[in-house]
Amino acid sequence: QDLSAFNTLGLSSRARRYVRYTDRGRLDEVSELAREHGPVFVLGGGSNVVLAPQVAGLVVKVATSGVRLLDQGDDHVLVEAEGGEVWHDFVARCVAAGWDGLENLALIPGTVGAAPVQNIGAYGVELDQRFHSLLAWDIARRRMVEMGPRDCGFAYRHSVFKEAGPGRWLIVAVRFILPRPWAPVLDYPDLRRHAELVRGAGLTARRVFDAVCEIRRSKLPDPAVLGNAGSFFKNPIVTAQALETLRLGHPDIVAYRQPDGVSYKLAAGWLIDRAGWKGRRMGPVGVHDRQALVLVNHGGASADDVLSLAAAIRSDVLERFGVALEQEPVNVA
Ligand code: EPU
Repeated sequence: QDLSAFNTLGLSSRARRYVRYTDRGRLDEVSELAREHGPVFVLGGGSNVVLAPQVAGLVVKVATSGVRLLDQGDDHVLVEAEGGEVWHDFVARCVAAGWDGLENLALIPGTVGAAPVQNIGAYGVELDQRFHSLLAWDIARRRMVEMGPRDCGFAYRHSVFKEAGPGRWLIVAVRFILPRPWAPVLDYPDLRRHAELVRGAGLTARRVFDAVCEIRRSKLPDPAVLGNAGSFFKNPIVTAQALETLRLGHPDIVAYRQPDGVSYKLAAGWLIDRAGWKGRRMGPVGVHDRQALVLVNHGGASADDVLSLAAAIRSDVLERFGVALEQEPVNVA
């Protein structure tokens, strides 16, 4: 099976074995195939993976759909979506239905089932803030497990699913709890500017949704046009002391204080940009010209091309700033 169309970096890749998982009734079948042809790699929207030219084992493409309102009251809406739902379409559908609260996460590529794996986040909201629970199929043990927030071990771009590796769990469905009344999250500077523009007209989730889409479209490349996997590195967390030292040499470094009050998150995009990588090319790959945190495939790139560029950036940033960057997308071989 050709996976080129199933990864947003647009790398050419083939799976030895491939199955589409289309409904809950077929989970046992998935487990049976996994036993015969494993190891398994569960593929959602392919927006956070670097696929090798040949993927060993069995690739399970999650291709389910369905969105259900489970409960609603004065103070909440509880909604469940199947893992294969396209994330952005799900968000758009919620906003259209008046189930507000996910609008800051508009236009993130990928699927609902992949969203908890890396605890997606953008513009001041992370998935774990709206998460209720999920249903996960334990592929080897052949049982369905319901997991709450604690079980999932969410952290910045991290969860137990990222630790367990991509073959242990198949995330069947995710439930979101959206608080009522709706309270907009406008901490992010770009978004606040937009919000001020529309204040007179009344602030709605729909308007925040539109603003997020506009901001993302202005900075981030559309994978359908230019292959990419979003941010290629996590924003590194450093101590106050390390930040102080960095500020001596770089007074304008971008850093955000963390909720713990003692550590700071640096903007990796700023570090890479300052190191002179923005817009640079290395063979068929390059660094996006409007957001240095995004690596792009100009056409015909392989996983090796992407990983070589990433390694060059990582060692340059380490040398210049003494900061180690951690790759965000998952390597699949
Ligand atoms: N910056 C630069 N040069 C660049 C890129 C960024 O100077 O080339 C500076 C910006 O001026 C800004 C700061 O760095 O002061 C932060 O940039 P931006 O607002 O674009 O956000 P980010 O920290 O680079 C993170 C997420 C994005 C998410 C945005 C918005 C990570 C790894 N990335 O990016 O998530 O959309 O915030 O919330 O946390 C993703 O994970 O794939 C992703 C796109």
